[in-house]
Amino acid sequence: MRTMKELALQMDQTDPLACYRDEFYIKEKLLYLNGNSLGLMSKRAESTVLEVLDSWKQYGIDGWTQGKREWYTLSEKLGRKMAELVGAKPNEVIVTGSTTVNIHQLIASFYQPQARRYKIITDTLNFPSDIYALQSQVKLHGYDPEDALIQIESHDGLLIEEADIIAAMEDDVALIFLPSVYYRSGQLIDVAGITREAHKRGIKVGIDACHSAGVIPHAFHDWHVDFAVWCTYKYLNSGPGGVAALFVHEQHHGLEPGLAGWFGSDKEKQFDMLHQFEPASDVGAFQIGTPHILSLAPLMGSLEHFSEVGITNLRKKSLSLTEYMMDLIEERLVGHGFKIVNPRDKARRGGHVCLEHPDAARICKALKANEVVPDYRSPNMIRLAPIPLYTSYFDVYDAISRLKQIMDDQVYLQYPNQRDVVA
Ligand SMILES: Cc1ncc(COP(=O)(O)O)c(C=O)c1O
Repeated sequence: MRTMKELALQMDQTDPLACYRDEFYIKEKLLYLNGNSLGLMSKRAESTVLEVLDSWKQYGIDGWTQGKREWYTLSEKLGRKMAELVGAKPNEVIVTGSTTVNIHQLIASFYQPQARRYKIITDTLNFPSDIYALQSQVKLHGYDPEDALIQIESHDGLLIEEADIIAAMEDDVALIFLPSVYYRSGQLIDVAGITREAHKRGIKVGIDACHSAGVIPHAFHDWHVDFAVWCTYKYLNSGPGGVAALFVHEQHHGLEPGLAGWFGSDKEKQFDMLHQFEPASDVGAFQIGTPHILSLAPLMGSLEHFSEVGITNLRKKSLSLTEYMMDLIEERLVGHGFKIVNPRDKARRGGHVCLEHPDAARICKALKANEVVPDYRSPNMIRLAPIPLYTSYFDVYDAISRLKQIMDDQVYLQYPNQRDVVA
């Protein structure tokens, strides 16, 4: 029978995506399993950043309209390029703002509470920034978040049951805002099913796809999701603080943006400089101010990988990598106190593996000292994300072997079991 090491080597040999690894800057010996927080830099992203710097150098202000890729409509162009990744029409995605700002923009636009229908459903496991945004949006309408925000409870502190979300869809609910994949446990929720049930009850649905965009296919248009937001610096490799994206279903084009700004204008009319706002006729209307061109630049290069490989192929390899990683953990780390807490089922599993361990903080420190980059989430979680574009099966084998060594030798006990400032 083949050993797990032989299996890794064989899967790498037959991996059709293996050639993409060389397109990324990966330090020798470093095993980077944190691309679900910040994706690595690719050579193509680097070259499009340099290209933008060069247009700035050469054209100055005229870079907005001249050069190989003029900046004035870059957000629209990148949106069209990204649409396929989330199953949207080209005029339904715009690359703009940051995730949190885009949440504010779309909640401000879609949340139109009525006297008897004013509540928002979200959950207790959601990312803090999403909750803060929802709290402030309901307060802006004069409601108390304690009353107007329904946070669905988890039964085990890890997963949210779709049935509980559906059961909370009562007549007083105006809107639902949920993640597609939970940032801790990596649970993938049934966005299509939830949207279907919500729409039967006249409730709108918004999705935060930060942890699925670029690793899991979606069909936002066909599922009739009303709106969605996601960042680009995780699986989409746009670099720290890279510009985010948003989706607004075509049926809502024409809806007045809650937060208007001049870059949301009809592009032909923007420079008429009138005080009467004339929004773009499509998703472009939801932009606010001048796009951050230097933070859009890497996406021009990094998105090429996604167009070439296709999201279905990326998902296939991601599922295979996480399956292999979980098999290895179960085979090699027995008796070391780890618990795999992400769903095993492919229909409910996102792009990362999540391990619980009471010494998680110091195990992560020991991993880093051994050139494995995990991600720690307080108080006891280790997230490990093998990235289909640049993680090999052997990397996974090597990372789990280094983890086993750290546990066997109890090296982790040398470190304090506390998180760092950025964890
Ligand atoms: C699920 C989710 N939502 C929102 C955010 C906040 O994104 P930003 O800080 O770019 O606004 C993050 C950041 O990691 C996230 O993971």
